[in-house]
Amino acid sequence: MAILFDSTKRIFTLQTGTSTYQMQADSHDRLLHLYYGRRTEGSMDYVLTFRDRGFCPNPPDAGTDRTYSLDCLPQEYPSQGTGDFRSQALMVETKDGKIGCDPRYVSHKIQKGKYALQGLPTVYAGEEEAETLIITLEDPAAGIRVELFYGVLPESDIITRCAKITNLAEEPLYLHRALSANLDFVTGHYDLISLYGYQGLERSFQRNPVTHTEQTLISRRGTSSHQFNPLCILAEPDTTETAGACIAVQMLYSGGSMAVAAMDPFEGTRFQMGVSDYAFRYPLAKGETFTAPEAVLCRSGNGLGDLSIKLTDCIRGHIIRGPYKNKVTPVLLNSWEACYFDFDGKKILDLAKQAKDLDIDLLVVDDGWFGKRDDDNSGLGDWYVNEKKLGMPLSELSEKVHAMGLSFGIWVEPEMISEDSDLYRAHPDYALRIPGREPVRSRNQLVLDFSRKEVVDNVFAQITKSLDPCQIDYLKWDYNRSISDIYSCTADDQGRVLYDYVLGLYGLLERIGKRYPNMLIESCSGGGGRFDAGMLAYSRQIWCSDNTDAIDRLRIQYGTSFGYPCETMGAHVSKVPNEQSGRITPLSTRGIVAMAGTFGYELDPAKLGGEEKAEIREQIKERRRIQNLIFFGDYRRLSSPYTDPVTAWSYTSKDRSEFVVNAVRTELHFGDEPTKFIRLAGLPEDAMYRREEDGALFSGAALMEVGIPLPHERGDYRAYAWHFTRTDRA
Ligand code: GLA
Repeated sequence: MAILFDSTKRIFTLQTGTSTYQMQADSHDRLLHLYYGRRTEGSMDYVLTFRDRGFCPNPPDAGTDRTYSLDCLPQEYPSQGTGDFRSQALMVETKDGKIGCDPRYVSHKIQKGKYALQGLPTVYAGEEEAETLIITLEDPAAGIRVELFYGVLPESDIITRCAKITNLAEEPLYLHRALSANLDFVTGHYDLISLYGYQGLERSFQRNPVTHTEQTLISRRGTSSHQFNPLCILAEPDTTETAGACIAVQMLYSGGSMAVAAMDPFEGTRFQMGVSDYAFRYPLAKGETFTAPEAVLCRSGNGLGDLSIKLTDCIRGHIIRGPYKNKVTPVLLNSWEACYFDFDGKKILDLAKQAKDLDIDLLVVDDGWFGKRDDDNSGLGDWYVNEKKLGMPLSELSEKVHAMGLSFGIWVEPEMISEDSDLYRAHPDYALRIPGREPVRSRNQLVLDFSRKEVVDNVFAQITKSLDPCQIDYLKWDYNRSISDIYSCTADDQGRVLYDYVLGLYGLLERIGKRYPNMLIESCSGGGGRFDAGMLAYSRQIWCSDNTDAIDRLRIQYGTSFGYPCETMGAHVSKVPNEQSGRITPLSTRGIVAMAGTFGYELDPAKLGGEEKAEIREQIKERRRIQNLIFFGDYRRLSSPYTDPVTAWSYTSKDRSEFVVNAVRTELHFGDEPTKFIRLAGLPEDAMYRREEDGALFSGAALMEVGIPLPHERGDYRAYAWHFTRTDRA
């Protein structure tokens, strides 16, 4: 049993393999949080301490007991209006302006299997793999019901949370905030690890102590964004890659999320995560329900490396769906950096021929095949094939590429509209824009109002009309601006638009996935502006960044790896000098870095010399040789690109019988500089490993204690790859 209920003390215990989560419906029927930490047995209600503290108010039902204050007690889903002055998970306003609610425990249900949510992505699991707890709280005076959902996957050390808020009153209610998860710790110090960035340097790593200054991390952009990724990790201050306690909270949501972290004056820590409250005022008519998207919680006592592996396994086994679940994805050649908008069908066929010659699997036609689209100022919204430009129907192009023995993919940007498009001329109201004002433009395009069904239907009809006659094996689903003008001309309240937009997006992704069940979808947003676990439920891989510079990619992929499997990170080898940075890196380095992702090429092979082509063929062979380690093994960060002159990582098979170590030297000094050793992690101490390249033998303990010396070779940005196999058993 993963979920236990002690009916005497009214304590709920969620047990996973290595963690325990506990809460209690107290004598006032309030749901208090007791514990989330290493696995333990028995009741943890002793963590509740009661003292009369100044300026910590007492709710009316506490009577004369001045020691009962929600300002100090750890809570499961704190709401505004109860005398708790910390950050709230739930903020409600009635139509006549009454603010606040105080929902109390009413009932609960424990059931087999994992719950699902209508219209939103969730972790899924078999009936025997998971259990669900639903706790119902109500506040009759405010007319509100809160259902807290918990999914427990004991084997995976995963607990999921989400909340449904229902209006039980006659009059409408407005939600100002309805977060997905709240964690209150009565003691302890934590660092907050989060991922920030911009287009071209997504998921930059930062680690800051949680202090008495409240930190709010937020996306106000309508998407998960380049600027704040919806993954946060609370780590004890001495936690490293290989030791120490840490807890991850990861949203399955692709709209804007927010996280709040603060230590209260009594040294308790509150951490929260959920839908961004920016421009959020969600109306609920009588009987209507708002669903706060799912948050995944995961804990490790063995450091950040182990935590990332658990999150990776959850995404691989319980979030990714569709034809490429548990499958290696094809090596592709993408036309974007090869020719941008400047192509016709002949050029594409030429790229395909070159790709085949290099043993690439898939040819992708990026932006520019539809409508009037010779640059990025027009055409979005017109999803009909530009046969004049291609010189042939898309079906013919796709057939010809297939006839060469390659699969075929194309690019779309379904959520956008150019003012210079037939769609905009026919339906200017389809764009999100504020009446009476010029729209705010970005990449000279506007965002379609996906909160409206007819808009989504129009795009679906157009895209399927173009794709149906062709064999499309891969779709790149792009999104190239943030939402700034939040106004839908059919919404009853603008405070719902950003959330409803995301439901519209998920609805369309679901329909496209069903229509083309064998198609691989890669999502994208100006690179990695929508790299989140919600998108991974619909798209097997996500373009990690428009920055293809191998050295910058070390940081981007390092940060991303804290919460996402490496093989979901779109990564390509591009030409040098790099288009974005002008940097020159060896082809071998570019190959090794891209191999830590989906792997593909984004260049014009016709411009390469014979030696480079031969090296690419070898790279592709190597990818095929180690792809099972990359896709199904454990990825470990062995050093940090922020603090180390060498960035190293490894992929180890689950049975520890083999692993590959990769290292890229980003700094090189005069030849006498000290030898750099790369220390491995996660190996059995007593195992012996042989390095394939030279037959050298190492014990697991030595590899982790001392590591392997990195050769000191001249030349910028050299990269290394070594393959080790276990030799001490058959
Ligand atoms: C975005 C993507 C690129 C490319 C262009 C096309 O920037 O991230 O990979 O597809 O759009 O316009």
